[in-house]
Amino acid sequence: MRIAVAGTGYVGLITGVCLAEMGHHVVCTDIREEKIQLLKTGRSPIFEPGLEPMLKQNLSNGRLDFTANPKTAYKDADIIYIAVGTPENEDGTANLDYIHAAAYTIGVSIEKDVIVCTKSTVPVGTNEKIKEIIQSVNPPPLQAEVVSNPEFLREGSGIIDFFNGDRIVIGTESREAAAIMEKIYLPLKIPIMKTDTRSAEMIKYASNAYLATKISFINEIAEICEKVGANIEEVAYGIGQDKRIGPHFLQTGIGYGGSCFPKDTKALVQIAGNVKHKFELLESVIKVNNRQQALAVLKAKEIVGSLKGKRVALLGLAFKPDTDDTREAASLAIVKALLEEDANIIAFDPAAIPNARKVFGNTIEFTMDINLAIEDADIAIIATEWDHIKHFPLERYTERMKSAIIIDGRNCYSLQDISKHPITYFSIGRPAIIDQPKRIKN
Ligand code: UGA
Repeated sequence: MRIAVAGTGYVGLITGVCLAEMGHHVVCTDIREEKIQLLKTGRSPIFEPGLEPMLKQNLSNGRLDFTANPKTAYKDADIIYIAVGTPENEDGTANLDYIHAAAYTIGVSIEKDVIVCTKSTVPVGTNEKIKEIIQSVNPPPLQAEVVSNPEFLREGSGIIDFFNGDRIVIGTESREAAAIMEKIYLPLKIPIMKTDTRSAEMIKYASNAYLATKISFINEIAEICEKVGANIEEVAYGIGQDKRIGPHFLQTGIGYGGSCFPKDTKALVQIAGNVKHKFELLESVIKVNNRQQALAVLKAKEIVGSLKGKRVALLGLAFKPDTDDTREAASLAIVKALLEEDANIIAFDPAAIPNARKVFGNTIEFTMDINLAIEDADIAIIATEWDHIKHFPLERYTERMKSAIIIDGRNCYSLQDISKHPITYFSIGRPAIIDQPKRIKN
């Protein structure tokens, strides 16, 4: 199949590269020329394990190409994937400007019948609008069938998820288009669900909203655990054993971030609002998450009082490990709150410093060495559960920090390990360890 992909962001690039890996001829296009130039040299603009070697391999075998000229990409394509961004508007709704622009460009570019397959997360009814736009500039007899094919890739494991997903959703009113899309995905041996367009669009939002709900639920239980003297790790394990609940997405912490959950939960509240439904459960999920992101600094203030002039080591900037993405990361909320308290911040992250620097410039210090981050620090706050942090020798905290106080927003360490060291330790939903003698560095 000849496939074109509109948008070389996280979703578009992984989709394009993986489809080429499956043997298709893929041309990816993007409005950002500099990105296309970089991709043509085999370099990935995003940090994603396994992506760059696969990109290079498929460029060199001629199955993958990049162009800044959408017409070149679209005119011979059998299938055009739309994978452009749907950023958040100020009121929480999804901004569809890029989607509509892509539909228009497809309309003016195609010269034969085509399937337009939307990967971007879009509100219910958007695929119908895409078809309308294409037809308005390119009326029948040319046929453009639309398919909603939401993606369920996670950043940091996008390639693995593409080839090993739990399901593939194909939403369309066209039987022919559904059959062609099914053929594309059959070699993956992943269960395929065929449905109508609107249900497919809804499946994506409902999936992310449900996962976010699981996280806020466990975070709220964690808060209660702290107050009643229970341990959230035990509780999460105990409830996760029930097959109806399952063990996944029950990891407590300082809230979910990233480019998907925060945006999609707000958009779904708006989608519901548009049909006069107040989505109270999801509103609470969002509220709990905002509260959760504020937790680390509140705890820090409780422990050391004023943070003015205190040296705070912030360990982790990415919204989760194995990505350089800091969008909506808990670390951003933490830095903002710490700056309001006039704290001096030194942040460690093995991958996300360039992105965080774009937000904070020189208002905070950055280092890729945890040892330097904690040197002479009054307090350390863990915001991302990187392996670098999880496997960091605990004695270093006592050797290097002014006072070994850790607020662990991701429960990286076992209470048993911590209790072998003179560390004051606060985590989420577990008893605090405050009775250890604190080592004060001279
Ligand atoms: C999420 C979904 O998992 C994907 O299925 C979906 O395709 C994607 O959004 C999307 O819509 O594009 P992603 O944002 O990459 O993927 O990251 P996740 O691994 O789901 O984590 C999201 C956030 O939830 C992170 O901040 C993570 O720390 C947090 N989280 C996750 C928890 O706090 N606890 C958990 O148990 C799991």
